[in-house]
Amino acid sequence: MRGGERFTVALIGASGLLGRAVAAELAQNAKEWRIVRTAHRRGDADNVSLDIRDHHAVRTFLRDTTPDAIVVAAAERRPDVCENDPALARALNVDALRTIADEARTLGAWVLSMSTDYVFDGTHPPYLPDDAPAPLNAYGQSKLDGERALLYGDPKSCVLRLPLLYGPVVDWSESAVTSLTPAIVESVNSANPPATMDAWATRYPTYTPDVAIVIRGMIEHHARGATISGITQWSGDEPMTKFDIAERIAKVLNVDAKLVAQRTPTDSTPRPRDCHLDSARLESLGIGRRTRFDTAIAHLLAHYPALPSQ
Ligand SMILES: NC(=O)c1ccc[n+]([C@@H]2O[C@H](COP(=O)([O-])OP(=O)(O)OC[C@H]3O[C@@H](n4cnc5c(N)ncnc54)[C@H](OP(=O)(O)O)[C@@H]3O)[C@@H](O)[C@H]2O)c1
Repeated sequence: MRGGERFTVALIGASGLLGRAVAAELAQNAKEWRIVRTAHRRGDADNVSLDIRDHHAVRTFLRDTTPDAIVVAAAERRPDVCENDPALARALNVDALRTIADEARTLGAWVLSMSTDYVFDGTHPPYLPDDAPAPLNAYGQSKLDGERALLYGDPKSCVLRLPLLYGPVVDWSESAVTSLTPAIVESVNSANPPATMDAWATRYPTYTPDVAIVIRGMIEHHARGATISGITQWSGDEPMTKFDIAERIAKVLNVDAKLVAQRTPTDSTPRPRDCHLDSARLESLGIGRRTRFDTAIAHLLAHYPALPSQ
């Protein structure tokens, strides 16, 4: 903390799927902490507009904000977009982190940046933080390069690897878990074909409000001088394929969905089969929460966007 001022957190990418959950969680500390949030296209009264491709703007924002901690949830995380636009992926997932690391080191701020289980090839789970990465696609490679840029530029900083996320959404397509919902509902209609769901890759769907609690716990460690540096990982512990997820969603909705299991990969962008992340490092620090999938998905299905009619 600087000269008796409040502990300040800069949350970059507060308008995204994870960023919104983190913003909601950090708001609980708003009396003791100052939270400064940024967005890009969704800048508004609560979120300062910041394009992290603009290095001058990033430096100016950080110098003006003088944060104690910087949480980076801004990224390009759609694998197909990264495959087709590697320059965009590099600008957001690598180059921006290099600038943030450089400025944070100068300011003495701690950086916590999100990464992905896709840094691994998915052939030998579970993965420890120090296991050799071997990304299969451009997204995973860009996130791995971003990890390295950050930790090289500011060794005190921290990476948090995460698997498939789901949580409160602005539309069903926002998360690869909830995006299954419209097809499940539409398959009930006898005029529609069955919904084909991947049954090849094992995923560990992780609830964004749980990740937000992990992030708050990590910031609290830093605030009391027990800074966590290097690579950390957090994951849900319920393995399931998208076919399994679809069956669970159908059960919660109480609909007789027509689902077909796709037992070989069909994605044009290669994806790993099973990247289960070992979370022991954070667990050993007493950090974390895991909401059961059925509980979380039932909450989301009851409270979020309207479903298509069957
Ligand atoms: N979603 C997953 O399943 C998943 C899984 C593993 C890891 N992760 C990682 O978790 C982190 C958060 O992912 P997410 O799912 O929350 O992503 P998201 O929903 O796509 O949100 C991306 C955020 O980045 C911001 N952003 C985009 N372009 C920007 C730019 N040029 N300058 C500044 N900000 C920009 C967006 O702002 P606007 O919307 O305002 O433009 C938004 O706040 C990422 O590092 C991702 O790699 C995600």
